[in-house]
Amino acid sequence: MSSASPSILLVGLMGTGKSTVARQLSSRLGIECLDTDKMVEARAGKSVRELFAELGEQDFRDRESDVLSECLARPIPAVIAGAGGIVVRESNRQAIRASQQAGNVIVVWLHAATDVLVARTSKGVHRPLLDDDRVGTLERLAEERASMYSEVSDIVVDVSQRSVESTVDLLIDAIEEGQAEMSISHE
Ligand code: S3P
Repeated sequence: MSSASPSILLVGLMGTGKSTVARQLSSRLGIECLDTDKMVEARAGKSVRELFAELGEQDFRDRESDVLSECLARPIPAVIAGAGGIVVRESNRQAIRASQQAGNVIVVWLHAATDVLVARTSKGVHRPLLDDDRVGTLERLAEERASMYSEVSDIVVDVSQRSVESTVDLLIDAIEEGQAEMSISHE
């Protein structure tokens, strides 16, 4: 376990509220908030939509992996909203697990029922992967990615019926409890 507090990485499918929860959680914890999609967009000078359309998904995934490595290597803790596909590459999952084992990150999987995600993704940010068949794609991604999210997560929260505020309260309790356990076991 490193001496500094760990970062918190939020993972989960599109529409689970990772960015909103990350913003509120970071402000409650008094630490910086990072968002991997926003970092990719800022570095590329293009939106996720433009990157998918102009350069394709694999190029986007390369940029996403670079940003994830950068977030995990930070010496100062932050709350990181990871984009939905951050767990897809085996190398990303390995990097997350290594960082967890070093005590540098706690990973939270925000999970929600597909019908909730269908409703939530119909408004707000544009998601290129959902252009053709929103319901079918979300069902497929939920099935394909469940084991990947599960493989890297320390804490799982079902946000289907839970408000952002209640999710943040729950996470603060879980993180404090987890850190107390860690510090006891390291005495
Ligand atoms: C994606 C999730 C999106 C964005 C892109 C692809 C995915 O981020 O990176 O549309 O593969 O699940 P959010 O989860 O923040 O919507």
